[in-house]
Amino acid sequence: MRLRNVKNAIEKLNDSRYFIKNPKDYYGKWQYFFKNNNPIHLEIGSGKGNFLINKAKENPNINFIGIEKFSSVLVRAIEKLTLENISNLVFICIDAKEIDTIFNHEISLLYLNFSDPWPKKRHADRRLTSLSFLKLYDSIFVNEKRIIQKTDNIGLFAYSLEQLSKNGYILEKVSLDLANEDISNIKTEYEEKFTELGFKINYLEAIKK
Ligand SMILES: C[S@@+](CC[C@H](N)C(=O)[O-])C[C@H]1O[C@@H](n2cnc3c(N)ncnc32)[C@H](O)[C@@H]1O
Repeated sequence: MRLRNVKNAIEKLNDSRYFIKNPKDYYGKWQYFFKNNNPIHLEIGSGKGNFLINKAKENPNINFIGIEKFSSVLVRAIEKLTLENISNLVFICIDAKEIDTIFNHEISLLYLNFSDPWPKKRHADRRLTSLSFLKLYDSIFVNEKRIIQKTDNIGLFAYSLEQLSKNGYILEKVSLDLANEDISNIKTEYEEKFTELGFKINYLEAIKK
């Protein structure tokens, strides 16, 4: 989802209080940044931001951070926030590969919503649930590690179940049809699209103590 020709994306990001320019400065200090001890929930690949914007509004006692690697995509989320006044939400523009330089055992929950599936075997390491990413996540999580994934892609879903189990996670909830579960849900932009097309959404919650 790379949007081209978004004029002045970087300028727009830099002008927004919802965008963190130098996230490495807050390594180990995110509670000071938010000025409270509330848990911090992270979404990697936050896209155009709907999920986190609504999560933050519904959960004022949780701090939310979105990571998106393309400024041209992130600017769409930032634009939606122009008229909002939300104190528990910020976005960062980095590749998740660098995540261990931004957080030091500070994250309670990680959302992976409709992550790129990277279907070719030779690209498996790029999947956000590959063992190399799961190892990186070990250093960002507080003691208890919790991951929630939603995806339309059954290949990525099967891969994630396997990798999470191999890395010591226990699967607390697994569904091949989220719409038919009693699970409260905020839809992402991709989820809206896939649901309209009649695709079922796969869902998992995994925990490692
Ligand atoms: C398929 S889109 C899903 C967007 C959103 N989560 C949704 O469900 O509507 C995947 C998003 O993840 C971002 N992304 C993919 N790999 C990433 C990485 N390694 N680090 C940060 N963002 C990444 C992409 O740029 C894209 O915006």
